[in-house]
Amino acid sequence: MTTRRVLFLIASFVLIAAAALPRARVDAAQAPTTLPAQDTPEDLKARETFVRVCTRCHPADRVTAEGRSRSQWEATIVTMQTARGAAVTPEEFDVVLSYLTKHFGRDSIVIPATRGGAPVARGPRAHVGAADRHRVDEAAAGRGEHTYVTECVTCHGTTARGTDRGANLVRSPLVLRDRYGSAIGPLLKRGHPTQSGAPSAGLTDAQITDLSHYIWQRINDTLQGSPAYEVKNVLTGDATAGAAYFNGEGRCTTCHSPAGDLAGYGSRYKPVDIQQRFVFPAAAAGRGSRRPLSLTITTPDGATVTGDLITLDDFQVAVREASGQYRSFRRQPGMQIVKHDPYAAHVDLLDRLTDKAMHDVVAYLETLK
Ligand code: HEC
Ligand code: HEC
Ligand code: HEC
Repeated sequence: MTTRRVLFLIASFVLIAAAALPRARVDAAQAPTTLPAQDTPEDLKARETFVRVCTRCHPADRVTAEGRSRSQWEATIVTMQTARGAAVTPEEFDVVLSYLTKHFGRDSIVIPATRGGAPVARGPRAHVGAADRHRVDEAAAGRGEHTYVTECVTCHGTTARGTDRGANLVRSPLVLRDRYGSAIGPLLKRGHPTQSGAPSAGLTDAQITDLSHYIWQRINDTLQGSPAYEVKNVLTGDATAGAAYFNGEGRCTTCHSPAGDLAGYGSRYKPVDIQQRFVFPAAAAGRGSRRPLSLTITTPDGATVTGDLITLDDFQVAVREASGQYRSFRRQPGMQIVKHDPYAAHVDLLDRLTDKAMHDVVAYLETLK
């Protein structure tokens, strides 16, 4: 190891330790006094932005636990915005991206990629150990889903959490050790399971890698509700203050009612789930049952139609109106389409919601029995 490399490693550790300081704002006084050589004032400012933007929901070390390449960091930030509701302005996006790439970067690891179903690189798998996280490739997971549905779903179930005919793969130690097919490959090739209805023996390496991506996608979907996502002291709030917030400042009654959609809510979920569902309703709903975008289409002659998005491409737009009526239009100049995200109110809420209000609301929702 060269001296530069050693210095860089030490510097990284200092940064990780510094970034792991308590969540939320780091003020100048908290900044470490002895700075690693490469910490310029810009670096410090960038770190502040990172802490402000990225530690609202989890500690910094949740983010910086492993190095990623620039494009992986980019994908991570986009996921935080779209799936987790992180509010990131375009300026913050660039600052956080460069900060993470510079200080927690890594050359892209080479994943045994598959193109058109054929493996293009087998060797690099050797570099990926159980300590490296399986990074899901969405396209491969999509292909894997296809194989899963034809070969595995009848026994392992639609969420991969098992049925009475097959094990829960999301909790399987074998699968948790699997990286890009390293563990499920040998299992499937041995012929699995022993009883009838087994998947076809001739699955290719590429199909197995894709299956691995798909199963890991299921695991990641589940993680967010797991103990890995620590939500502490969820019932420390004041239910009366929560009710006041619900009916007043929170404007929750514009869309919800304790006697309507939220009736009995406190008996439906555990407090920790209430918090998760209330703060991240889109993630809690999961891909399958997430509410669609709603569109308002204004045709060139001024007629408007509003409904849930069914298709929207360059040529055509189709929605289902609240009445159930299907309406489709050819896209043409002069047509306006406005999208409404049903979860927008909850995404905005993340900016306003204080920890106190959050705990109060959870305590209040818990009383709705
Ligand atoms: C609005 C809440 C919220 C904000 C803000 C947020 N995250 Fe997350 N993040 C989550 C949730 C929820 C998870 C999933 C639970 C977990 O893994 O802890 C998560 C998980 C992660 C993970 C681990 C999962 C993975 O993709 O490997 C990383 C890394 C991460 N976030 C990075 C970031 C970065 C970078 C930012 C700032 C741009 C950020 N987060 C801001 C909610 C948020
Ligand atoms: C006919 C039912 C059936 C089918 C189809 C099936 N499995 Fe299984 N699977 C099982 C059963 C039963 C077990 C547990 C006992 C065993 O290992 O045979 C299991 C176990 C596993 C395990 C190991 C879990 C552990 O922790 O030991 C993995 C991984 C797995 N299956 C993956 C798959 C994949 C991927 C497919 C599709 C390519 C598939 N299975 C198709 C029935 C099935
Ligand atoms: C503009 C409308 C709107 C506002 C305002 C709003 N929500 Fe929601 N909320 C939604 C939508 C849409 C969902 C997704 C679930 C659904 O489709 O009903 C949701 C989901 C939820 C859930 C999860 C329900 C479940 O299925 O588990 C809770 C709890 C919740 N909101 C509480 C609140 C609270 C508390 C406030 C006020 C601080 C609030 N909401 C403000 C629209 C809104």
